[in-house]
Amino acid sequence: MSETEKIYQYFNDPARTTQPAAGSDSMIANTNQTIEAPYSDSFSTEALSIALIGPEELTRRTAAEALRQGRGNEIREFDAYPADLDEVPKLLDQQYDVIIIDLDPNPEYALELVESLCANGAATVMVFSSKPDSELLVRCMRAGAREFLTPPFAQATMTEALVRAAARRPASRTQKKTRGKLLVFLGAKGGAGVTTLACNFAVALAQDSGQSTLLIDLDLPLGDAALNLGIIAEYSTITALLDTSRLDLALLEKLIVKHSSGVWVLAAPGKFPTINASNEAIDKLITVARQGFDNVVVDVGSKFDSTGTILYREATTVYLVTQAGIPELRNSNRLISQYFQAGDKKLEIVLNRYEPKALGVTDEHITKALTRPAQWKIPNDYPAVRRMQNTATPLIAVDSPISRLIKKMARTVSGGAEEEPKKKGFKLFGK
Ligand SMILES: Nc1ncnc2c1ncn2[C@@H]1O[C@H](COP(=O)(O)OP(=O)(O)OP(=O)(O)O)[C@@H](O)[C@H]1O
Ligand SMILES: [Mg+2]
Repeated sequence: MSETEKIYQYFNDPARTTQPAAGSDSMIANTNQTIEAPYSDSFSTEALSIALIGPEELTRRTAAEALRQGRGNEIREFDAYPADLDEVPKLLDQQYDVIIIDLDPNPEYALELVESLCANGAATVMVFSSKPDSELLVRCMRAGAREFLTPPFAQATMTEALVRAAARRPASRTQKKTRGKLLVFLGAKGGAGVTTLACNFAVALAQDSGQSTLLIDLDLPLGDAALNLGIIAEYSTITALLDTSRLDLALLEKLIVKHSSGVWVLAAPGKFPTINASNEAIDKLITVARQGFDNVVVDVGSKFDSTGTILYREATTVYLVTQAGIPELRNSNRLISQYFQAGDKKLEIVLNRYEPKALGVTDEHITKALTRPAQWKIPNDYPAVRRMQNTATPLIAVDSPISRLIKKMARTVSGGAEEEPKKKGFKLFGK
């Protein structure tokens, strides 16, 4: 058997797939032929998330077109190789079932990328080149690529390759990639401190976890999360909600702005457009956001009209931000009784501007009003908050009792216990 034949056999070895590649001698030999899909419908109907990395635009577009036909796969095109071969491949692997790479613009770098992806990842890595030679094939095989494709891409060939990828995708993977954590900040009353806490929590979470984190300002129309972080945004949550039929990850990426801490922000509008976002529109925005980000933090202000949305149904945690004043405690009590079952694990109460026994209100009074103890007590610290507002520097950048507590809240979510924060390195959405 010649070396090339061995390679062909490798790329089509039934042992490397869950189903035999019936009727196909070689992916390469068959790229221009129509092959009948040999697999059952259950595989072929499964949607995959696909990252297509191709610096050469025309070839990438052709590949994307072939991939788009037929199945409901999510395809994300990248027009450059990632700049680093360590963090980005891990993130790609977390977010995509299949990663397809054009070798031709820089075969050496592309091969290093394939190697890095295959070393630890579970995603199926495919490569393509218009100049396949046996040496390149051997190297791709050794690097761990599962399919070697050549343009022009026959749809049937693409379908077959994707069916194999779907078949080998671990069952646990779908859930992992499509659902970022959803962390919702709701105020019991205007001015309770939702924006201050949501912004700083998002920054702490992004930095502590090293994961992709998006802060969405849903306190429409007047939310001021961007202002708190010193961000100027061209687009807003309203832009995202205006036509949700068009909203996907690629569009969302264009609407968000990156803060220097690493957090991405979808800001509230700077002007006063009026929009009555439907529950469906909010659901779509949050679903798309969670497909692309490990953590989605939402400032919903102190309006309760979104209680019928995914924000509450699927929240990882709802942080009810309140204070020890009578109106805030009264509202909290009503909210908890109406929307959160007794002992609802996803509700965490954050008592902001807390000063023990202030105004004669004891902890017992507070616990009684809240029907349970507050998980978090954030001290009143006017100088720290003022400094943040004047300098647009996150609270957590400077050590203080507030910043320590917010970091602790974030660490509870990132699961980092007391270990050192990881270095951030998310470049998937980086420019
Ligand atoms: N722990 C704190 N210590 C001192 N001041 C605080 C604290 N938390 C918030 N503040 C201040 O209280 C005010 C209201 O806070 P913030 O804007 O975060 O509340 P909000 O619930 O988002 O209000 P809104 O209803 O306007 O959206 C701000 O001036 C903020 O700086
Ligand atoms: Mg606010």
